[in-house]
Amino acid sequence: MTIKLPLEQAHSLLAQAVRPGDSVIDATAGYGQDTVFLADQVKEFGHVYGFDIQADALKVCENQLIKYQLQNQVTLFNQGHEKIITLLPPELKIQAAIFSLGGLTPEDGHLTLPNTTISAYHQVLSRLHRGGIIVFLMAQFHEGSAVERDFLISDLTRLDPAYYRVNNYQPLNQGENAGQVIAIERL
Ligand SMILES: C[S@@+](CC[C@H](N)C(=O)[O-])C[C@H]1O[C@@H](n2cnc3c(N)ncnc32)[C@H](O)[C@@H]1O
Repeated sequence: MTIKLPLEQAHSLLAQAVRPGDSVIDATAGYGQDTVFLADQVKEFGHVYGFDIQADALKVCENQLIKYQLQNQVTLFNQGHEKIITLLPPELKIQAAIFSLGGLTPEDGHLTLPNTTISAYHQVLSRLHRGGIIVFLMAQFHEGSAVERDFLISDLTRLDPAYYRVNNYQPLNQGENAGQVIAIERL
């Protein structure tokens, strides 16, 4: 298929921006799908910083990394991404970040929230290389998703176009729950 599904679109954007040796962030590591993908992109001389508030999910993520022998190029923090700036090594510049919004399942009680998502992405922006990207993946919709997405979009539309390009990738004929990807590139 030429037109990509939301997860494929998110990974395709990351793959275009990330090179071996880069430092990148998985702001919502969960079970590790994006962490494994990013660790594979940065190779053993790059690094992935992963964040999640659910310790059990991070254990699954860690096991996935071990399975693919990627654990040495990843640091996992059982902390909210709103603390990213205090946990990253000082002065470290970031090439890419992904925020996979929502929860692990529709019943997950640990959903991402508009205020913390917006605070965290601004923290990442302050460390982003020129040419670096931040990708928001909204693959699983839940009650509250639309509120978070609308808050996020209203914040993103205020980013200065002289410094950032912000694009919205959204299926038009596949129902409201088909998912969505938004990406920021620092110019
Ligand atoms: C859609 S899921 C992520 C899926 C993940 N990429 C995977 O492959 O399993 C969203 C994740 O965000 C986490 N989360 C919610 N609020 C958070 C916060 N403030 N900081 C970091 N992670 C958070 C949830 O615990 C959940 O694991």
